[in-house]
Amino acid sequence: FRDNLVLLEEAASTNLTLKELAAKGAPEGTAVFCERQSAGRGRLGRSFHSPAGEGIYLSVLLRPRGELTQAAALTSLAGVCVAQAIEDVCGLAPGIKWVNDVQVGGKKVCGILIESVIENGVPAWLVLGIGINVNNDPSAFPPELQEVATSLRAEAGQPFERERLAAALLDRLEESYRGFPQNLPLIRQECRRRMVTLGQRVVIRSQEECGVFLAEDIDEQFGLIVRDANGERQTLRSGEVSVRMA
Ligand code: BTN
Repeated sequence: FRDNLVLLEEAASTNLTLKELAAKGAPEGTAVFCERQSAGRGRLGRSFHSPAGEGIYLSVLLRPRGELTQAAALTSLAGVCVAQAIEDVCGLAPGIKWVNDVQVGGKKVCGILIESVIENGVPAWLVLGIGINVNNDPSAFPPELQEVATSLRAEAGQPFERERLAAALLDRLEESYRGFPQNLPLIRQECRRRMVTLGQRVVIRSQEECGVFLAEDIDEQFGLIVRDANGERQTLRSGEVSVRMA
């Protein structure tokens, strides 16, 4: 993923930039970084706070042959890679909150958003977007993030070289993606080991319902298996579900 790097001062959203590059014939593995995003996107139509010089805002173009429906698995693969890169470079012990957040000390340091690019009515590419709060001062976060988000700098008490972390992350992603999908059992194992959600009561909000469940496990498609107060089990797919710790 280091062969086709695009480094930008500013983008509305690196996911958007990469979708445009894909339409112009950019090869698989093209990676776009920027210093700041003016319209960083998160899941469920949310925005991703992306101030200049403090974070890593990265998108990578993927074309997993025959596996374009595997967005949940790839989100988990990316989450594991982010957690490992942070551990290697920053010496912190990150956890994963299903499905797309990486946390340190119970607060979010990274969000992951996979979007597909449709060509001729079928998904042709996946854009893997990763945003990491590296050197931010959390007291400058917008009010809605104050309680829920943090930065690597705040958690470790020291700043980090973003380039080093970004390089470690690209290498982890490339290696892991090369092994995909055969390595999914291994990814699932690592994901479960790091999953802060498992064994916890979680509040699930979707279009249909809202309630408190016990998060038990993740299945082979990386869905979250939960149990309700009556002991009934169901499996949540990532789509339109928001999960927070109860
Ligand atoms: C989330 O937390 O809901 C997902 C956040 C994903 C943020 C990254 S930053 C790089 C890429 N470009 C975007 O606009 N979003 C992703």
